[in-house]
Amino acid sequence: MLTELLEKNRKWSMHMTELDPEFFLRLTRQQAPEFLWIGCADSRVPANEIVSLLPGELFVHRNVANVVVHTDLNCLSVLHFAVEVLKVKHIIVCGHYGCGGVKAAMENAKLGLIDNWLRHIQDVHHKHHQCMSEVEDSELAANRLCELNVIEQVVNVAQTTIVQDAWNRDQGLSVHGWIYGLHDGLLRDLRMTVSSAESLEPIYHEAVAALVGKED
Ligand code: CO
Repeated sequence: MLTELLEKNRKWSMHMTELDPEFFLRLTRQQAPEFLWIGCADSRVPANEIVSLLPGELFVHRNVANVVVHTDLNCLSVLHFAVEVLKVKHIIVCGHYGCGGVKAAMENAKLGLIDNWLRHIQDVHHKHHQCMSEVEDSELAANRLCELNVIEQVVNVAQTTIVQDAWNRDQGLSVHGWIYGLHDGLLRDLRMTVSSAESLEPIYHEAVAALVGKED
């Protein structure tokens, strides 16, 4: 099985080199991605592939259920490097419908260590109790929590010292909230795009309000 992977890799490398003989050479010199992607670790949501970006074009951080925790040194280090060194212009927090992490959080599943991580999503659920209680169908409710989770994680990104400092020095930087449909391979913009500290709150309220009464 693993030999197959190595064989596929050799073919891919040959194919890329045929298309562009300088491709790998250029990448050894530098990476200059314009985007940081914060997404779910789910194997069905491969970051580069779904936005058709090549190696070198997307800086990626993925974890279970695309959660941005203020004290997560791993995520903060990625964010710091992306904003201060690579100077990405856009940070995309991308969730997906049918997220197993979000479902487990909703069902209050007892899975072990990960329950502590998923607790952050339960906090989102609790915060939006009103908005969540409108949805009776459990699948639709899980989808809404996936959307709310993205919106809340955009807020968490925007509130980090890293992003706040970037805005303070007028570094152009936008944080976006998107959600991906496993069933159709399409991304949806949750209208949660924040480009300044002042706009965070009004945009957040609009994005949350837009979910209320929405059918899909
Ligand atoms: Co997921």
